[in-house]
Amino acid sequence: NDQEIVGSLKHQLAKLFEESLRLTVPEESDVDPAIAPCQNPRFGDYQCNNAMGLWSKVKGKGTQFRGPQPIGQAIMNNLPASEMIDSCSIAGPGFVNVVLSRHWIAKSIRKMLVDGIETWAPKLPVKRAVVDFSSPNIAKEMHVGHLRSTIIGDTLARMLEYSNVEVLRRNHVGDWGTQFGMLIEYLFEKFPSGEVANDQAIGDLEAFYKASKQRFDSDPDFKERAQRAVVSLQAGDEKYRKAWSQICEISRKGYEKVYERLGVHLEEKGESFYNPYIPGALELLSQQGLIEESEGARVIFIEGKNIPLIVVKRDGGYNYASTDLAALWYRLNEEKAEWIIYVTDVGQREHFEMFFTAAKRAGWLPAEDDKYPKASHVGFGLVLGEDGKRFRTRSTETVKLVDLLDEAKSKCKAALIERGKDKEWTEEELDKTAEAVGYGAVKYADLKNNRTTNYTFSFDQMLNDKGNTAVYLLYAHARICSIIRRSGKDIEELKKTGTLDLVHPDERTLGLHLLQFAEIVEEACTNLFPNLLCEYLYNLSEDFTRFYTNCQVVGSAEETSRLLLCEATAVVMRKCFHLLGITPVYKI
Ligand code: ARG
Repeated sequence: NDQEIVGSLKHQLAKLFEESLRLTVPEESDVDPAIAPCQNPRFGDYQCNNAMGLWSKVKGKGTQFRGPQPIGQAIMNNLPASEMIDSCSIAGPGFVNVVLSRHWIAKSIRKMLVDGIETWAPKLPVKRAVVDFSSPNIAKEMHVGHLRSTIIGDTLARMLEYSNVEVLRRNHVGDWGTQFGMLIEYLFEKFPSGEVANDQAIGDLEAFYKASKQRFDSDPDFKERAQRAVVSLQAGDEKYRKAWSQICEISRKGYEKVYERLGVHLEEKGESFYNPYIPGALELLSQQGLIEESEGARVIFIEGKNIPLIVVKRDGGYNYASTDLAALWYRLNEEKAEWIIYVTDVGQREHFEMFFTAAKRAGWLPAEDDKYPKASHVGFGLVLGEDGKRFRTRSTETVKLVDLLDEAKSKCKAALIERGKDKEWTEEELDKTAEAVGYGAVKYADLKNNRTTNYTFSFDQMLNDKGNTAVYLLYAHARICSIIRRSGKDIEELKKTGTLDLVHPDERTLGLHLLQFAEIVEEACTNLFPNLLCEYLYNLSEDFTRFYTNCQVVGSAEETSRLLLCEATAVVMRKCFHLLGITPVYKI
């Protein structure tokens, strides 16, 4: 990729102010420009908020300035000349308001249309990251919580990838717990040869798990055999390893169906993978005096926490925390990842806080949260049903994810047929559109909320074509594409030869919003909040609607310019869809 990344509008503006700040108060040369969108758009587009802070630093130190306001004035006067800026003004105690030049906005959009939206990618201070997401537990069901993790994790990975970060997408499946003893023993009981003929032989793995659990709880003999089976498995006994891998394989086939539907790619490196690294990792922590003996277990005490982090259980076995410590060590030292991101429900926050703290004390991670390498826990809330309780369906206790996606698709298909699309389109077009819209709706409904809150799963809401939904947004995009098609103009040709001018206020507003894409992705990505991107996308389609309502496109004197603005909107919308894992639709 030899295209130059231009950096966000905000960064470009910050560069100008950086120079001005250095000229204005040379003695405070390490102050970073504080640039933000204007609180009140009547005063401008962006503002620089440094004057007050600078005043409190320099007052009483023989400064020539008599208050924050004159500092603001000087910051404004010292701004280097730039084609970016149309005009500036001072408000209140030294805020510098900036009105951007509409010619510069137009020029930047034109440049993006020619050079590609990759040039708007954020620049992040990391080269390689691990995103640990989805991560269901073998043999236990993959539930809606794992669906959330899959959707949120995929988006974060996509945003990082767009930012030119190499992402190791990791499925940290639970494939090494003590439950395997009971599962293996039960398998031997059902299939004395130790061979499972085929997947169907086991049938529903979830039911198999339940049956073996029941056996485990009710028969002390079985329980004892199951406990011995864990030991044999962990010691590497071939017969047990084979049974284990058969169970894993069946489970894997089940959740791969979900990934395929969702178009999510990730690489399985389950708990078992890190097992051999546990002794070494614990040895390192031990050498640093972090591990202590407590009630027969080996633990790490964490300041401010009532209970310690158990790293070796009383029976000598390892647990979730020991595995996570080893995995962190591996990711930092073997995979050389600079940012490790874990996507799970908020219920696991404490676990992550505790082992991150242990890693900081061991010096694996810097103590400061804004330094790299960094570990981040991306917690999300519960999925609720429309009754406000934990989401379940009538037929099964937990929702079967594939059924859920099927239902979304078939509802969309029915809606398309109701609109007569089956008469216009081929069966394949109908199917593809229903999939894009249905799966997109499930993803978007999840992503648009602040992830830390619980969210209510409702087909009616997510498939509504009027609210803030993927359906509405996908249709909006398709409509823009059809405006361009209907014009009969060759848009590729226009990109090369046409000019863009943002004369009407609604054109300017839309143009500025387009240009803000880069800073929004950067914010969503660095703070790990995909909902910011959804909000941006929704507002973009609103700005477009306002523009389209008030400005005639096809057949107007400004047709070329306005078609380019339509195209730029479609390009940015498509990039948003791509980052959210949603397949765009081109006609409707
Ligand atoms: N398997 C776990 C669960 O279902 C999630 C694993 C998350 N990743 C990790 N490294 N702990 O809750």
